[in-house]
Amino acid sequence: MLLSMAYLHFFRALLLFHILFLFHSSSALKEGRTCIANGNCDAGLHCETCFADGNVRPRCTRIQPISPISKVKDLPFNHYTWLTTHNSFAKLGAKSATGSLILAPTNQQDSITSQLNNGVRGFMLDMYDFENDIWLCHSYGGQCYNYTAFQPAINVLKEFQAFLDANPFEIVTIIIEDYVTSPKGLTNVFGAAGLRKFWFPVWRMPKNGGNWPTVSDMIQKNQRLLVFTSKAAKEASEGIAYVWRYMVENQYGDGGMKAGSCPNRGESLPMNTTSRSLVIVNFFRNAANFPEACKDNSAPLLNMVNTCHNAAGNRWPNFIAVDFYKRSDGGGAAKAVDITNGHSVCGCPNISSCKENMRYGACELPEAINAATKSSAVAVQSSSAQSKCRSAQLFALTDILLALAAVFLLSLQEFHV
Ligand SMILES: *[C@@H]1O[C@H](CO)[C@@H](O)[C@H](O)[C@H]1NC(C)=O
Ligand SMILES: *[C@@H]1O[C@H](CO)[C@@H](O)[C@H](O)[C@H]1NC(C)=O
Ligand SMILES: *[C@@H]1O[C@H](CO)[C@@H](O)[C@H](O)[C@H]1NC(C)=O
Repeated sequence: MLLSMAYLHFFRALLLFHILFLFHSSSALKEGRTCIANGNCDAGLHCETCFADGNVRPRCTRIQPISPISKVKDLPFNHYTWLTTHNSFAKLGAKSATGSLILAPTNQQDSITSQLNNGVRGFMLDMYDFENDIWLCHSYGGQCYNYTAFQPAINVLKEFQAFLDANPFEIVTIIIEDYVTSPKGLTNVFGAAGLRKFWFPVWRMPKNGGNWPTVSDMIQKNQRLLVFTSKAAKEASEGIAYVWRYMVENQYGDGGMKAGSCPNRGESLPMNTTSRSLVIVNFFRNAANFPEACKDNSAPLLNMVNTCHNAAGNRWPNFIAVDFYKRSDGGGAAKAVDITNGHSVCGCPNISSCKENMRYGACELPEAINAATKSSAVAVQSSSAQSKCRSAQLFALTDILLALAAVFLLSLQEFHV
């Protein structure tokens, strides 16, 4: 008994030491490292597990893509990829502004402002007439109810307004699933939110598959908000672009998640229609699924992005739309965006390799540099990388063992003491 108490104290001390060590390196943990809380991880990362993929160790995982326009600004808008959230407003745990419980499924974990700060630049919003106003609802039958109503659209539109005001070099796209029939309903609510001054005019959008203006031109003219509606008539009546006149889009929901095929959504022309210069890749289930989202947003998403690239006539998506964008088993949606931006911005497999004015495809990848130098240097480097990798694995293993020991000993204590 005494001996086991001694063990208990020893393990406790070890555990404490370990936790202290983790917190000591607080806000410095790199991608893949074991963590306890989001605050332990570097900027752009958060702490999570992916049980659906059998990954029970909480690790720092990427949520934020690299801003492609921080690398290269002079390309047409349609050469970039933007992380996009499906039902961006349908936040887990939200309460309806009507006071009602929300019975509709939810698709994201954080607010619009938080998404913007994490580098999300495409937003899919469902807008309805409700309570003599325009509301964001996740509803059915074209009608909003108290229990499917999230909040008045003006609230989140003001979040966009504040972000665009505070960040004069950022461009945001809103794609509306539009159930609004009140005359000038959308025009009025965007106006009331102070968003007209950022409006990218419909007449400047390429009608026949041409290039868009460059992002630097859009920034310079302050035309940094792109708004698209699913109602064709509003392009003429309110100057709001009809989405499928400018974009092609794959099937959303389960139909868009069958590996190896990328069929177009019914309302969209086929993916390879080059008279539409923008491409959306949707990758989310019919029924939003929080536990599985980390898996979906990882290798299967990357595979679909490649499949859709081929289906779209070798065009990389401009918008990659997912549920629970933060969730992944590693790099996730942010990684998919970094990869596609690398390909379309500079012909490299990662946007981090792109530089202003570089020759397309002239990537300075670490491997390429190594290959060009002495092979012995490569060998040394790779063996040191291997040992780094091994020590990280060891670190992870001790984490798990310690956690198990702690749980075990605490349960013993419950029983015996
Ligand atoms: C819906 O919410 C409004 C408040 O926004 C309330 O006045 C109304 O009674 C509610 N309707 C039902 C059916 O609960
Ligand atoms: C475009 O894709 C369709 C299938 O959706 C295919 O039938 C057609 O041949 C393709 N057109 C071109 C020009 O590749
Ligand atoms: C892209 O490069 C950055 C910086 O070198 C790296 O952190 C990231 O993991 C890379 N992403 C991919 C998808 O390879």
